[in-house]
Amino acid sequence: MGPTSPAALLAPVISVRGLVNRFGDQTVHDGLDLDVLPGEILGVVGGSGSGKSVLMRSIIGLQVPAEGRIEVFGREVSGIDATENKELTRQWGILFQGGALFSGLTVAENVLVPLREYFNLSEGLMAEIASYKIAMVGLPAEAGPKYPSELSGGMKKRAALARSLALDPKLLFLDEPTAGLDPIAADGFDTLIRTLAETMQLTVFLITHDLDTLHAICDRVAVIADKKIIAVDTVSALAKLDHPWMQEYFNGPRGRAAAATAKQDGGRAAAATAKQDGGRAAAATAKQDGDRAAAAPPGLAKTHETGPESS
Ligand SMILES: Nc1ncnc2c1ncn2[C@@H]1O[C@H](COP(=O)(O)OP(=O)(O)O)[C@@H](O)[C@H]1O
Ligand SMILES: [Mg+2]
Repeated sequence: MGPTSPAALLAPVISVRGLVNRFGDQTVHDGLDLDVLPGEILGVVGGSGSGKSVLMRSIIGLQVPAEGRIEVFGREVSGIDATENKELTRQWGILFQGGALFSGLTVAENVLVPLREYFNLSEGLMAEIASYKIAMVGLPAEAGPKYPSELSGGMKKRAALARSLALDPKLLFLDEPTAGLDPIAADGFDTLIRTLAETMQLTVFLITHDLDTLHAICDRVAVIADKKIIAVDTVSALAKLDHPWMQEYFNGPRGRAAAATAKQDGGRAAAATAKQDGGRAAAATAKQDGDRAAAAPPGLAKTHETGPESS
């Protein structure tokens, strides 16, 4: 859904105006503006350290900005009282960079954490909700009683996603969800996000450097550079802009490979094709551009790819 769709006429779900964030004498954001529209999957890209995670943390109220105004669902995020805050926070789900689950809890227990925090439900009902969420993210029922250390990287991400969906949010924040996954797991995760967004009518704020993800599932993409959002548009429109970072990012070898795959697949996730043809398309993509999880695009360091919640 693009800026010309009917949804664009509705009030934005997230509105950021004049955001300034500083750490000591380092200015990370300097007058950043951004709108996220209802029902869209908005991709957020930018070089490593450009302030993507700090932007997300500001929006969810974990980082108090030096200046600026942030509204989510029409309510200002900073300075609201605890009760109101709880009402607001239960409307969103978050998958942090690194997607850490509580390692001492099983998958099902992880999903129960937000349910226990926000609701007073019977154990039986909560267990039922947890199994439902686990199934929703494409995990087998056997994954419920397993500990995170017993799961593959892709399954861990799905489990973390199940936890972030526990409260049936309207808004989902994802920070580099496919980082560190192999190409097939990454494509599967992209498809899952797209499907869930459609079925649950989610608005999605998705930080990624994964070009395949941008092409496959994002309605629009916001680019952070020079401490601001310098452009918000479709991937193909951004690729035409005359900015050095964007040119290198979207039109470099990996950008072109991702665009070619997207075209082959009719602009949808390679995983959808992979499912139909037993993974050949995804494997071909993987071959073309190497392990997409292993090779970072220009200006993006690898430190954030597999590490725990480093930021
Ligand atoms: N809590 C913090 N204290 C000091 N500096 C921080 C903190 N969080 C982030 N930064 C700095 O802010 C910049 C942007 O960080 P971040 O948003 O994590 O980048 P990215 O775009 O890679 O997600 C980086 O230079 C980072 O070192
Ligand atoms: Mg980050």
